[in-house]
Amino acid sequence: MKTSPLSNLISLFRVPETPGSLFLSLEGIEGSGKSTQIKEIEAHLAKKGLRVRTLREPGGTVFGEKLREAILNSSSPLHPLAECHLFLASRAQLLKEKILPFLLAPGSVVILDRYIDSTLTYQGIARELGFETVLTLHQHDPLNLLPHRTYFLDIDLATSYARQDKRGGKKDYFESEKQEFYQRLLDGYHELAELFPERILKVDSRNAKEVTTKTILTDLEKFLA
Ligand code: TYD
Repeated sequence: MKTSPLSNLISLFRVPETPGSLFLSLEGIEGSGKSTQIKEIEAHLAKKGLRVRTLREPGGTVFGEKLREAILNSSSPLHPLAECHLFLASRAQLLKEKILPFLLAPGSVVILDRYIDSTLTYQGIARELGFETVLTLHQHDPLNLLPHRTYFLDIDLATSYARQDKRGGKKDYFESEKQEFYQRLLDGYHELAELFPERILKVDSRNAKEVTTKTILTDLEKFLA
């Protein structure tokens, strides 16, 4: 990788080091099918005898769930930095309470529904803080931990809207955003896939869900080997 402010920042991150442990994250815009694919990955890995813990962000701890409530039900627009710090507070607590202790045992897998790439694209790109600011805010332990592998479930905006309409229900803080916001999110995820080509695998998630699952599990098997 060429030396640049971003690559210098990225070089300060680490991955969990317990042999045989695995840290995975799933990313994508609303309606990309993360929850469905997470269930498949979880079942696949549990069948292999691995200890699997699935968590979501923001949330996953008592404190984090309170932050989740505060962000997603916010009735006033938050300053992008306020928003960003709330996600990071939830993340630091989740790492301390649930991720790092669990990954100490060999044969343990943590699967996260959203992680640092959500902050990079939602707050970094869509809210315009920039990748550099968001990465800088992650420099302190334990936030400087990257997943071993990230699956970015890629869909287009029309598919996202169609799936959101089918799901129905009240729109939260982010779901009420306009089309330009979603387009920026997608652009951000594509940029991230280029910035972290070894960690992030982009998977076309417009296909039937079984096709997406097969792509992910095939890659995961290669990765485990
Ligand atoms: P959630 O209902 O979990 O969304 P989804 O089902 O699409 O995963 O709500 C989490 C929202 O928070 C989602 O819109 C993405 C956003 N988010 C950020 O903006 N930054 C972050 O760092 C994280 C983790 C989530």
